Amino acid sequence: MTKQRYLTGITTTGTPHLGNYVGAIRPAIEASRNPEIESFYFLADYHALIKCFEPEKIRQSSREIAATWLALGLDTDHSTFYRQSDIPEIMELTWMLTCVTAKGLMNRAHAYKASVQENEQSSENDPDKGITMGLFSYPILMSADILMFNAHKIPVGRDQIQHIEMARDIGQRFNYLFGEQFVLPEAAVDDQVAVLAGLDGRKMSKSYGNTIPLFSSEKELKKLINRIKTNLKEPGEPKETSESALFEIWQAFATPDQIQYMRDAHANGIAWGQAKKELFELINEQLTEPRNRYQELMNDLGYIDEVLKKGAEKARAEAIPRLEKARASIGIARTISQS
Ligand code: TRP
Repeated sequence: MTKQRYLTGITTTGTPHLGNYVGAIRPAIEASRNPEIESFYFLADYHALIKCFEPEKIRQSSREIAATWLALGLDTDHSTFYRQSDIPEIMELTWMLTCVTAKGLMNRAHAYKASVQENEQSSENDPDKGITMGLFSYPILMSADILMFNAHKIPVGRDQIQHIEMARDIGQRFNYLFGEQFVLPEAAVDDQVAVLAGLDGRKMSKSYGNTIPLFSSEKELKKLINRIKTNLKEPGEPKETSESALFEIWQAFATPDQIQYMRDAHANGIAWGQAKKELFELINEQLTEPRNRYQELMNDLGYIDEVLKKGAEKARAEAIPRLEKARASIGIARTISQS
């Protein structure tokens, strides 16, 4: 049996936070060490262009994300780690896929629909105001990312399931028209993976402004943990774990024994200040080493580039022949050879 191939992209906007770590990065890095599967992880920098027109931000975020994954121990010998923009074949495939994608399918994409709805509610007379073709065809670029490498499983959050279904539809359509060639992918949504609570108790998310950056300094980490919202229960008063954002975050980092310990501590009325101190210690201990390594990497961008270059070479070794096949299948074989 061929190995199952997992592939996922990380949009390069923003600085990774603890929620990204627990929900996506940590499980992906664990998977990269599993010999039963093959993993492809990439920086989706052309996806970032859809929502960010600040070149320096895009550059910075790509570096930060690459350094983050490497600092946390991504095994780049057993996985393929690359930048989307280093694989020009993806862009070529995107056009081929665009030409077989029904516009109606894109009309149904949640992200596009949400933008239209916002315009309609704000008494705009143009429902498409501010919507670029990039945003509209975003799911096609994502399909090319996936189909280019014949990935089977796509680990994503719930909000991305629709996009994976679209990639299936588009791949199926292409196969039907031009001959079987693309594997039809499936979303892999892990319900076990924690959705981390943010500072205010809602899901930790950049759009809520309630995040804890993954590699904030020790001092900053302590400060932010102290800001986690708690209720007014006094020291000595029993506390409900179900109402405790702090306990939720604890759970995402603790062993089963440590979880039991904190559950008991809540029942026994641990003071919030003490619980925060212990949470800081727990997280800080796990992050100290990667944080140092992250700082080293951010000071050695040449190394990051080297790793990404190696990854791009591995990825292109697959993408080039698959693209040639697709081109031949649509009747546009090359007249000049690729250097
Ligand atoms: N759109 C994804 C997100 O916002 C990122 C992404 C781009 C992706 N291309 C992908 C995820 C391909 C999985 C597969 O999270």
